[in-house]
Amino acid sequence: MVESSNELMDKLVALCKRRGFIFQSSEIYGGIGGFWDYGPLGVELKRNIKNAWWEDIVRKHDNIVGLDCSIIMNPRVWVASGHVGGFSDPMVDCKQCKARFREDQLCAVRFVGGNNSVLHEACVEGAWGEGEQAALAILEATANSKIRRRVEQARKAGKLSIDGPFTPADRPGQCKCPKCGGELTEAREFNLMLQTHVGAMQGSSSLAYLRPETAQGIFANYKNVLDTGRMKLPFGIAQIGKSFRNEINPRNFTFRSREFEQMELEFFCHSNEAEKWYEYWRDARFQWYVDHGLQSSRLRLRNHEPDEMAHYAKSCADVEYEFPFGVSELEGIANRTDFDLKAHQEHSGRDLTYFDDEAWERDGDKFSAENFDGDKKAAQQAAKQAKQGPPYRFTPHVIEPSGGVDRAMLAFLCEAYCEDEAPDENGVMQKRVVMKLHPRLAPIKAAVFPLVKKDNMPEIARKICDELKAAGISSFYDQTGAVGRRYRRQDEVGTPFCITVDGQTLEDQTVTVRDRDTLAQERIPTAGAVDYVRRRICL
Ligand code: GAP
Repeated sequence: MVESSNELMDKLVALCKRRGFIFQSSEIYGGIGGFWDYGPLGVELKRNIKNAWWEDIVRKHDNIVGLDCSIIMNPRVWVASGHVGGFSDPMVDCKQCKARFREDQLCAVRFVGGNNSVLHEACVEGAWGEGEQAALAILEATANSKIRRRVEQARKAGKLSIDGPFTPADRPGQCKCPKCGGELTEAREFNLMLQTHVGAMQGSSSLAYLRPETAQGIFANYKNVLDTGRMKLPFGIAQIGKSFRNEINPRNFTFRSREFEQMELEFFCHSNEAEKWYEYWRDARFQWYVDHGLQSSRLRLRNHEPDEMAHYAKSCADVEYEFPFGVSELEGIANRTDFDLKAHQEHSGRDLTYFDDEAWERDGDKFSAENFDGDKKAAQQAAKQAKQGPPYRFTPHVIEPSGGVDRAMLAFLCEAYCEDEAPDENGVMQKRVVMKLHPRLAPIKAAVFPLVKKDNMPEIARKICDELKAAGISSFYDQTGAVGRRYRRQDEVGTPFCITVDGQTLEDQTVTVRDRDTLAQERIPTAGAVDYVRRRICL
């Protein structure tokens, strides 16, 4: 068992580096905050997550199509979307050490004893929650045992009052810098979009932004997709791609990065069906994480409070996961109403409405001359006018499930990390680290070993490995070291199946398959290895 949350995170970060999942970006130059590189195994895991999402969202739905937009778009996109004017975080700076913090991520608390004596005060970064429990957690994290004893004594004597937790926004001037205790400035808005210049000349006219979300590229292309794909409501446009945000405090490994990938679906529907589809996608997205191995007890669906919701959103929920560093958002599902399409229509001057020709065909007779006392012209005019507005022409509403690839991967890694014991080649129990990744996501699906490097075993094992690869099953051949060590190397990177060619293989053409999680071993025909693995990983 892994004892503490910090310990688990430390072990996971170390494993990710040791085994080639995740490296610090430009590490040889000292790294750069908020940027990460995915190593040989990490890139496979990440690709498997994206492929699983793409398969389940795009390929399995007749009415959902994909898109791949450019990262840099006309800057007017970001004016229309509200990102130029409003995509900012309130920041406070320390006047002394110059550290910068997000105002809403500072949390201060004060413990007051008898005679109004301040027993302890602290200001910390992070989302600690509210109430006495949060205050006590901050005390635990920031006070030494002597102070904690004094607080406890005051509590027993009924003289303790707890002031907080509060943020600088709640009590301006009353929070101190968590790093040096210095005074903090008033909050200032800090735009999170990363800027660049396009073209040879640098000036305000060449200013462009690296997209902070993939969604706006979908809205900007909505009409192209609608017209070329002859889409009918309800339909969705999905995109996976890089997004960039100049996060003030990138933190918790890859959780909050400055460059990350999003998997976003914009699902367009009729306004009167929007809440139905919102509930559908909210529940489907929650279930997707469960189906790929996150325990539902560590996941929760949190409906946003009305004051938390973006002004244009009608309903919004987050799929949250209990990371070792706290419960945090994996994916947001929102009913964004018709806000985005209307905003782009207004700013671009292009018609982004939808014409419901099925409804028109159904109702077309209403506009026959007979219904206008035989007046053909009046009927035509009424039809023309009716076609311009509801129920025939309208702006669709949008349901948006928006998830982060890096966050999903971090959650799958945290969930998978496990320490237990497994017997070595002599049957002696040894500690092992095992990544219990879902087989669909595991970077390597099967490893193939010859028990010894002789008697034709390497040749047979190589052949099995080649056949697996030819079948599109990512596989790994390993003949170095004791077989127990080879198993453990694969356990540590989450390989679900290890296939061993041994003496018996030469006699009866069977091999051993060892299951990573149960450690059960079974003999299967050598010729059936590919089918066996394919069936077990549900490819
Ligand atoms: N289009 C809506 C949108 O972008 P968001 O809640 O800002 O909504 C959606 O982002 C998802 O993108 C988040 O749930 C998270 O998984 C991921 N994400 C956002 N900011 C991130 C960051 N700085 N680092 C890693 N992932 C991030």
